[in-house]
Amino acid sequence: MAISKKDFDYVSRLAHRESALVLEAGKEYLVVTRLGPLAQREGFASLAALIQQMRLETKINGLHHRAIDALTTNETLFFRDFHPFEALRRSILPELLAKRASARRLTIWSAAASTGQEPYSLAMLLLEHFPQLADWTVSILATDLSPTVLKVAQAGKYSQFEVNRGLPASYLIKYFTKQGDKWCVKDEVKSMVEFRPLNLIQTWPIMPPLDLVFIRNVMIYFDVETKKTILKKIRTCLLPHGYLFLGTAETTTNLDPQYQPVAHGKAVVYRVQQPEPSTPLAAS
Ligand SMILES: C[S@@+](CC[C@H](N)C(=O)[O-])C[C@H]1O[C@@H](n2cnc3c(N)ncnc32)[C@H](O)[C@@H]1O
Repeated sequence: MAISKKDFDYVSRLAHRESALVLEAGKEYLVVTRLGPLAQREGFASLAALIQQMRLETKINGLHHRAIDALTTNETLFFRDFHPFEALRRSILPELLAKRASARRLTIWSAAASTGQEPYSLAMLLLEHFPQLADWTVSILATDLSPTVLKVAQAGKYSQFEVNRGLPASYLIKYFTKQGDKWCVKDEVKSMVEFRPLNLIQTWPIMPPLDLVFIRNVMIYFDVETKKTILKKIRTCLLPHGYLFLGTAETTTNLDPQYQPVAHGKAVVYRVQQPEPSTPLAAS
């Protein structure tokens, strides 16, 4: 199946406007492999017929949203990249827990959470290593643009292949139960995570003050201006002691000078630079 230049241009404009996804020339195969099956499921004779129908609609509707959903890259795994989670366990969480001891509250946002492995990894790490949080208010908010991945995440059921990727065997035994050929996240873990739809380039709901923001392997698909806007918005929600986690191929450098990269072990995380406290005038 091929795609005409006109159809590809239409899809890439739509994807950019609705999700910020940048589809440059050369990514035609991606549109064909992701929208081809959608065309079939929707009963169109061809990909061209699906795109023709989308073009005919006067308003963005469910068909366009299902196409955007199908175009998203949802690759994820438990404890992805390992080092950020080690940094959390070894130094960042002990530091945050000391800072938050009087409020006894910890709020984490996993933005672009895909099928849930990232927020569930965070929840399991907290349960496993920080039992003192049992009487704290801990919230892990997990959001994504795609209703398809949110459904999988909410169900919390994973195949053998998925649990083999990144999840230590001891966690599998402790935090999952086997149902048929699926591994199901136990309620103890599930109840710590709240999943909600959120498109990062649309208006955000009022966010609570955040201790940790994970926004990994999503801005890599966006253009520079979109990355700048999102990083700036995150700054307004991040608590002064908070940390931002990006994917290993992502950075704030040349995008937002107010973030400062900080190495924690083999992980690089980001903090917002705080203004220097003003020096009190010497008493005369
Ligand atoms: C590659 S996954 C990353 C998952 C996880 N953060 C990780 O690093 O393993 C990227 C996710 O970003 C979501 N996404 C893409 N564009 C988005 C947007 N504009 N707003 C919110 N989520 C978006 C996709 O649906 C997809 O689930």
